[in-house]
This record gives sequence, C-alpha cells and structure tokens, in this order.
Amino acid sequence: MDLFLLISLLSLSFLLLVIHHVRALCHSKNLPPGPRGLPIFGNLFDIGSKPHESLAKLAQLYGPLMTIKLGSVTSVVVSSPEMARQVLQKHDEAFSGRVVPNSITELEHSSHAVAWLPIGEEWRLIRRVLTSYLTNSKTLDLLRGIRHDVVQEMVCHLKDVCTKGESVGINKIAFTTIMNMMSRTCFSVNVDEYELGNEKGFRNAVTTIMKITAKFNIADYFPCVRCVDPQRARQKAKAAYGCLEQLCDYFIHQRLNQRSSGISRRGDILDSLLDFSQENQSDFNLKHIQVLLVELFLAGTETSAITTEWALAELISHPHIMLKLRDEISEMVRKRGTIEETEILRLPYLQAVVKETMRLHLAVPFLVPHKTEEDVNISGYVVPKDTQVLVNAWAIARDSDTWDKPTCFIPERFLKSGMDFKGQTFSFLPFGSGRRMCPGMPLAHRVVSLMIVSLVHYFEWKLPNESTEPEGLDMTESFSLTLQKAKPLVAVPTARP
Ligand code: HEM
Repeated sequence: MDLFLLISLLSLSFLLLVIHHVRALCHSKNLPPGPRGLPIFGNLFDIGSKPHESLAKLAQLYGPLMTIKLGSVTSVVVSSPEMARQVLQKHDEAFSGRVVPNSITELEHSSHAVAWLPIGEEWRLIRRVLTSYLTNSKTLDLLRGIRHDVVQEMVCHLKDVCTKGESVGINKIAFTTIMNMMSRTCFSVNVDEYELGNEKGFRNAVTTIMKITAKFNIADYFPCVRCVDPQRARQKAKAAYGCLEQLCDYFIHQRLNQRSSGISRRGDILDSLLDFSQENQSDFNLKHIQVLLVELFLAGTETSAITTEWALAELISHPHIMLKLRDEISEMVRKRGTIEETEILRLPYLQAVVKETMRLHLAVPFLVPHKTEEDVNISGYVVPKDTQVLVNAWAIARDSDTWDKPTCFIPERFLKSGMDFKGQTFSFLPFGSGRRMCPGMPLAHRVVSLMIVSLVHYFEWKLPNESTEPEGLDMTESFSLTLQKAKPLVAVPTARP
C-alpha cells in the first residue's frame, strides 16, 4: 500500500511537472533571452556554487535582462545599472514583490516580517516603526553612546589578546560586537561574549537560521514536491526560528513583568515597541514585536560583520591604504581628542574605504530576490506576473563599462565621485534601491564605519603566518545567503601606543 501510494505520488508529481513545463513554454514567447536549459531541470546545473559569477558570465552572452529557468521556476536576472534603474526605479512597484523561501512559508514569521510581507498597510506600518524607533538620524545620534561602549569592550578584549600575542578570527570578533550593539540597543544587555562558545545563545541561533535558509532546497525550484518537503527544510527552519523567537520572547516577557511591578523603564527599543503596541494593539501586537526583533538580529548582524571582515582583509593586503586611513583617523583624534561617530562619518578617506569595500564585496550579492506583482513590459520584453527577479548587484558593481579596474580595491575612486549607496546610483547597490531598499542602511553605515576606525586606530595587524605576504591574502568568496570570505580572516593584533 505504501509503495503504491509512493508510486502514485511520484507519477502525479511528474505529470504536474510536465504540465507546468509545457505551460511555461507556451507563455515564454516574449520573455527576455536566456540560455537553453535542460528539460525539467532548466538551468539549475549552469549556476554552480557561485551563481553571482556564473550568471554574470551568462549575462555577457544574453544581455542585462536575461531569463533562466531554475527547475520549474522562471527567473529574470538583471545585470546592468540601466536595467537595475528600470526595475528598481521606473517599474519599482511592479517589481516589489518577494519570493518567500519554501522553508519558512509555514512560519508566522514570514507573515509579519518586513522582508517577506507584500507591499501593503502592514509592511508600511512596520517600516515606519523601524524608522521612527531605530534608524532615523536623531535616534541613531541618541543611541551612539551604546555603540561606543560596546566597541570599547571589543578594544579591551583585543588589548588582552595583544598581551598574549594570540591571533583572532575577525568575523567572530565583529559578529559578537555587532550582536551586542544590537542587543544593547534593543534590550539594554549584551547577549554575546568574546570567550564563550555560546552554543545556546543568540549567535548560535542566528547562524543556524542563516545556514538552514541558505541550503539548496529542491522545494523552492519544484513546487510540485512542496507538499512532501523532501529535505524536511520546513521542519528544520521551524526549530531554528523557534530558538531565536524564544530568546526574544524571554526579554519581552521579562520587560512586561518588570513594567507591571513598577520597575522603571530602560528607554531602549523594546520599551518603545511596547509603548507603540499598547497604543496600536490591533495593528501591532506582541507577535509583531517578536518578529521585528528576530528580523533585526537576522538582517543586521551577519551583513555588517562580513563587511567589517572584508574591509580589514583589504586593508591588511593594501598596507599603503591602511596607513593613509590611519593618518586620517589620527589627525581627527589629535584635533578632537577622541573617536566620535558623528565625526567619522565625515572622514572622506574612511568613507571611501567603506564604499569601496561595499562595492567590491557585496554582502547581499542578489539583493533579496524580488517578484513581479503584474505582467511588466520592459525593454521590448514581457516579464510575467509572479516571476522571480534576481538583481545581480555583485556583477553591476564590477561592470567594466562603469568601473575602471573593477576588481581592484581603489578607495580613491570614491573621493572624486559623489557616488553613494543611498539608492540613486544604480551601478552601486549594496543596500538595493526603491521601496524595498534596506531600511537598516543608516545604522549599518555607522556600525561598519565605527568598527573599521576602531580596528585600524587602536591596533596594527599582521597575518599569523609570517611567510604569507599581506598582498597574497586569499580573497576567495563563498556564496551563501551572504557573500562571505571563504577562508575566514585570522590576524594578530598589536596595540598601538
Ligand atoms: C552592511 C549591512 C547591510 C547590508 C549590506 C544590507 C543589505 C540589504 C539588501 C541588499 C537588502 C535587500 C534590498 C532589496 O531587496 O532591494 C536588505 C533588506 C533589508 N534589510 Fe538590510 N543590510 C544591512 C544591514 C541591515 C540592518 C542593520 C538592518 C536592521 C536594522 C537591516 C534590515 C533589513 C530589512 C528589514 C530588509 C528588508 C526590507 C524590505 O523588504 O522591505 N539591514 N538589506
């Protein structure tokens, strides 16, 4: 009986797959050009382990608006600044949908998270909440003391490391620091430590979710197998999200208890969200608070930590750039007597280093995949409703038509140009553009700038293996949800006088 059921299910899946394939072929007349794929699998085998690179190569053959078939899912890949402008500015609304990964479709998280909500009242409200209580410049100024304190804890820890002459993993240090900046801002406590393994804590919960959601899930490409969830991806995601949700719930309920026993407010983001929720119960309840907190930890920690790690790797392998940057920072400290976040945002060479790092090492190489909300006429083609849209921001940022020596790390290129990452320069989109643009950009900009300044000003950095020339540092990328350094940067700090 079981075998009969299995065979029936497989036959039915196969039949649905063929019907879907034939229907897709019939509707594909006006689609942008693209490589021919295999029957059933489409171009799945063309993309390999570094899709940002392989799709950039294919785009050179098929053009900046290219159709690929991933299993039975039709996707359109955008690979030039002009096409990005069309998609993210001219047709912004039509391209503003999201493809929710199958692993999280059953979670309440996906129904309330900014990143997955369709554009609508709820999405607008939560983005407004995020801006009002966290990412507007007045609030960010008010909260800068927290970021300074947490960075000082990192500096103390690294000075300790210096006395022992040990090496450190930069990603781990950056991750812990940025995680604590986020938790101090949200809950007024540190949730991570430099020394501990932290197997049950926030760091572990965040990295587990990142790993699970980054894994290739066949159900994303073959809708007909979704009902069986062949890799148990939904089950694994449920457990992983459950851990992070529980950790956030603990702080929410602790705060509610403190409030009812008259303990004074902390004045952090959690207090603001609870106040807002009390006034707007029907639109923004405790579940919204939990989902938003989870989202802040997921969206805001790894991305900023990776960017910091890439920046230091580039600075170590370009000693003259490191020196020039250090001179600029020393000059500021000499004048002001201290490192001030508002001041460092005005340091031209530092800002050029931040931008050049974000250009060369896109933390989110395809943005978060978009989806068409209707049929769209674009450049003489028709992109049908519900098509997945991948904006290859990595390829765009290395396009030789726009960038001179695109694969070289040259911060000076940003000194001359007024180019910025605020979504108006379509050749440079580390945070995206348009209505789906990253709402955390102003915070990430400050955090990454402060991290780089502190690592460069307080310490000299050497590679642990004396025989490795800094210029020979392995800069290979590893593609996951984010674009990481394949070989994590390990370096030896020496405290500067
Ligand atoms: C260096 C750090 C960061 C980078 C490179 C980055 C990049 C991005 C990118 C490329 C997107 C997708 C844009 C699109 O689809 O068009 C995005 C979305 C998002 N980011 Fe960030 N981000 C960073 C930090 C942060 C921080 C600190 C937060 C939280 C405060 C945050 C919250 C979000 C959210 C909620 C979305 C979804 C927005 C929506 O769909 O409406 N990000 N980010």
